[in-house]
Amino acid sequence: MSLSILWLLLFLLPVSVEAIADPTSSTAIPPKTMLTAAVITKHSNCARTCGSLTIPYPFGVGRQCAHDDWFTITCDKTTYDSPKAFLWGPLDLEDREILEITETEVVIRNSQIASRCYDFRGKKVSENEGKFNISGSPFTLSHTANNLTVIGYNDYALIGDSGGTSPYEAPLYYRAGCITMCANLTVMKPGSCSGLGCCQTSVPIGLQDFTIDLYTVENRQRQKEYVPAEYCSYAFFAKVGNFSFGGASDLTTNGTVEKRTKQEVPVVLDWAFERYTSCKEAKKKNICQSNAECIDSEAGGYRCKCRSGYEGQPYLEPGCTDIDECASRPCAKYCKNVAGSFNCSCPSGYSGDGFKSGRGCYPDGLLKIITNLASGLGISLGIISMLLVSWWLSYIIEKRRIVEQKAKYFEQNSRLLLQQMATDESAMATIKIFTIDELERVTDNFNEDRILGKGGQGTVYKGMLSEGRIVAIKKSEVVNESQLRDFVNEVVILSQINHRNIVKLLGCCLEAEVPLLVYEYILNGTLFQHIHHPTEDFPITWKMRLQIASDSAGALAYLHTSSSIPIFHRDIKSSNILLDDKYRAKLSDFGTSKLVAIDLTHVTTHVHGTFGYLDPVYFQSSQFTEKSDVYSFGVVLIELLTGQKAIRSMIQEDRSLVLWFLSHLENSNLLDIVDSQILQEGSKEEFLAIANLGKRCLNLDEKTRPSMKEVLVEIERVMSLHFPGKNQKNWTEQVITGTSRTTNYSYDGLLSSKTFYPENISLSSAETSLLSNPK
Ligand SMILES: *[C@@H]1O[C@H](CO)[C@@H](O)[C@H](O)[C@H]1NC(C)=O
Ligand SMILES: *[C@@H]1O[C@H](CO)[C@@H](O)[C@H](O)[C@H]1NC(C)=O
Ligand SMILES: *[C@@H]1O[C@H](CO)[C@@H](O)[C@H](O)[C@H]1NC(C)=O
Ligand SMILES: *[C@@H]1O[C@H](CO)[C@@H](O)[C@H](O)[C@H]1NC(C)=O
Ligand SMILES: *[C@@H]1O[C@H](CO)[C@@H](O)[C@H](O)[C@H]1NC(C)=O
Ligand SMILES: *[C@@H]1O[C@H](CO)[C@@H](O)[C@H](O)[C@H]1NC(C)=O
Ligand SMILES: *[C@@H]1O[C@H](CO)[C@@H](O)[C@H](O)[C@H]1NC(C)=O
Ligand SMILES: *[C@@H]1O[C@H](CO)[C@@H](O)[C@H](O)[C@H]1NC(C)=O
Ligand SMILES: *[C@@H]1O[C@H](CO)[C@@H](O)[C@H](O)[C@H]1NC(C)=O
Ligand SMILES: *[C@@H]1O[C@H](CO)[C@@H](O)[C@H](O)[C@H]1NC(C)=O
Ligand SMILES: *[C@@H]1O[C@H](CO)[C@@H](O)[C@H](O)[C@H]1NC(C)=O
Repeated sequence: MSLSILWLLLFLLPVSVEAIADPTSSTAIPPKTMLTAAVITKHSNCARTCGSLTIPYPFGVGRQCAHDDWFTITCDKTTYDSPKAFLWGPLDLEDREILEITETEVVIRNSQIASRCYDFRGKKVSENEGKFNISGSPFTLSHTANNLTVIGYNDYALIGDSGGTSPYEAPLYYRAGCITMCANLTVMKPGSCSGLGCCQTSVPIGLQDFTIDLYTVENRQRQKEYVPAEYCSYAFFAKVGNFSFGGASDLTTNGTVEKRTKQEVPVVLDWAFERYTSCKEAKKKNICQSNAECIDSEAGGYRCKCRSGYEGQPYLEPGCTDIDECASRPCAKYCKNVAGSFNCSCPSGYSGDGFKSGRGCYPDGLLKIITNLASGLGISLGIISMLLVSWWLSYIIEKRRIVEQKAKYFEQNSRLLLQQMATDESAMATIKIFTIDELERVTDNFNEDRILGKGGQGTVYKGMLSEGRIVAIKKSEVVNESQLRDFVNEVVILSQINHRNIVKLLGCCLEAEVPLLVYEYILNGTLFQHIHHPTEDFPITWKMRLQIASDSAGALAYLHTSSSIPIFHRDIKSSNILLDDKYRAKLSDFGTSKLVAIDLTHVTTHVHGTFGYLDPVYFQSSQFTEKSDVYSFGVVLIELLTGQKAIRSMIQEDRSLVLWFLSHLENSNLLDIVDSQILQEGSKEEFLAIANLGKRCLNLDEKTRPSMKEVLVEIERVMSLHFPGKNQKNWTEQVITGTSRTTNYSYDGLLSSKTFYPENISLSSAETSLLSNPK
């Protein structure tokens, strides 16, 4: 506990300090009234810029502003929209456009390009030498910022140094070169300059007077079939990384490389204040002014540079001046500018280094609290912060792991889902995909208060979506393959149907290990609760029971016959029939349902269902037919009639509601078994009709069981007996004719998976005998 408080303090420290710092700091330092730009030109009337280029001394626009002719710049304001700067010259520097001037370099446009062109016989037809002579100038070709680039087809280039006055130069002497090898034009890759059609190498130091010579390696005639009919090779210097090879077309299209290079690919020169002397001489002559230092250039010559903390002109009086660092507010509280540096401090009562980028200033008390806490715990601050850091790191890692896991589940679940829906993505489109964060928010982190129901399969939570809609969210507890398949199955089935007596699936969440399902919220719970745990306020009357029976029979009939593909529910029971605010039934829980090809009468599966409702014929044959749903519905009918649970008690002999009901029916004391709650409401004729209907549904000979449509018609008949005034005609038709969301669906994939439910139900021998010998 105290650890986390400490962490919090440490964490908040820099923020809170800055928050208290700024208002006072403006009074602590007198603000600089005017920031004067540092001197960079020789005279105050010399131009500081030309276009966007800044021109510091020793460069200058016009001879009187520059150190000497080499540094003299002309600024052409008339020819171009935005002014351009050119070197004055002489030699090969004459009229070369300047792109950039830095402390050590000047970047100029390229013009020295060597080229050789060959005709279709491989005969050289033209040649341009790459010559460059800036001998005697303060400039050299930068060896750090340029590359020699050669483009060609089995060609190579050599840099020949013509000899000169640079300390590094010698009479004509090849310094460097590179070769392009290539057997086949098609292997040249644009952008790759690694030897195939294009090669690059670094530049020797101190070049001032040199030629670039291009040669070809082989007898072109011999290689004719590989060689493009006509092509040119090129060699030039270019700023590192700036030239990009355009592929074979660079060789075969005469002129493009030259044009591109001269326009876009600059060359970098090193400059020195004086090329042929060193700092030793410069110091004697006091070239570098006050607060400036002298730096020898690697390629010869020297430059002057302001010391750190100073700015301005190192070559001109009065030299470099102190930078007022406080102007950029580097301190948390007080800032004091000193020569070449600055000093941050904190007011009394505060500790810290005073730097905004450092620990800033914080009240002394705070430090005491922290150190006391630390010593009180007997652990040094270092250990605590190590613990905190590692805790924090593991928190970050854990968070990341969760994010990755969510993505993994999503991927895996949506793959499963899409496999099932392979041929019908439109069904998927009708379902909303929720994020796990959203569902956690609407259920209060799956708060226990929100639980609507709990079962073997999982827990159902109540939640309210942001648009105010109340939903039920089903979350499975245990995770295994079969549950995952149940989920996918339910999504597939429910996305196919749209019926007012079937619960609507609104969406799902694929980011959890077992995906979560989001349904419309059905207000009044399950039929099971209402029959077996009735409330005094709202007893469930005979009329309501008939309505519920009719609703659910209608939904089932729809599933069996009218939906585009017959669907067997396979788990009809009173706890899967939900009641809305008007006590109308809604069928739910399609986890185990199956889509069935129309011409198939049954599906062979491992037995799955709920005891008390399970069709014994199905149990024995493992063949589920629509009549197995009819059997289960028969049990629900008897439940409605008798108010007894499907499994009546834990005593073996008295266990099955079906056996109990059939035996009483034979003994023809029907009124004894009708739920006392409804005894007064209905007539004996009505009870008898429903009892007989139930009995027919439970028939062990499947073929004599009525279809759901027939069941529905019979229930309707009983309803019209019960409320003769009401015109119930044609209602049957309405109920069965639901609207299907999708009309075309391929179910081949579903039927071929024989191991849809890997878990077999294990029954005790007593139960098996009960079910198989109901007499
Ligand atoms: C390069 O220029 C210098 C100075 O102008 C000159 O002395 C030298 O001969 C030139 N080099 C070549 C190869 O022309
Ligand atoms: C280009 O020049 C740079 C700087 O000298 C060098 O580091 C780099 O290796 C050169 N590139 C190639 C391909 O030689
Ligand atoms: C060049 O290479 C391509 C693919 O690598 C090949 O198809 C083509 O035949 C080669 N051309 C010659 C002339 O070898
Ligand atoms: C090459 O340099 C020029 C001029 O500095 C610049 O405009 C261009 O964007 C550069 N190209 C690359 C690929 O770096
Ligand atoms: C390529 O262009 C250069 C100048 O741009 C010219 O000198 C040369 O003759 C041309 N080569 C061919 C093969 O057209
Ligand atoms: C900053 O000021 C304090 C007190 O005025 C002094 O002790 C310290 O040495 C100074 N630091 C620097 C870098 O000048
Ligand atoms: C899968 O989960 C169901 C429901 O929780 C359970 O009955 C079954 O035994 C589980 N199967 C495996 C292989 O864990
Ligand atoms: C069922 O719905 C009615 C009407 O909305 C409501 O008054 C009643 O409390 C609900 N009963 C239960 C058990 O939720
Ligand atoms: C049901 O309604 C249709 C017209 O929609 C009518 O032709 C038919 O006779 C009605 N059936 C009954 C039983 O009233
Ligand atoms: C269903 O399939 C038939 C033939 O395969 C096709 O003509 C019809 O347009 C499809 N209907 C839909 C809604 O895709
Ligand atoms: C499940 O039932 C099938 C046939 O119905 C049988 O082949 C299989 O061995 C059973 N599996 C288990 C685990 O009992």
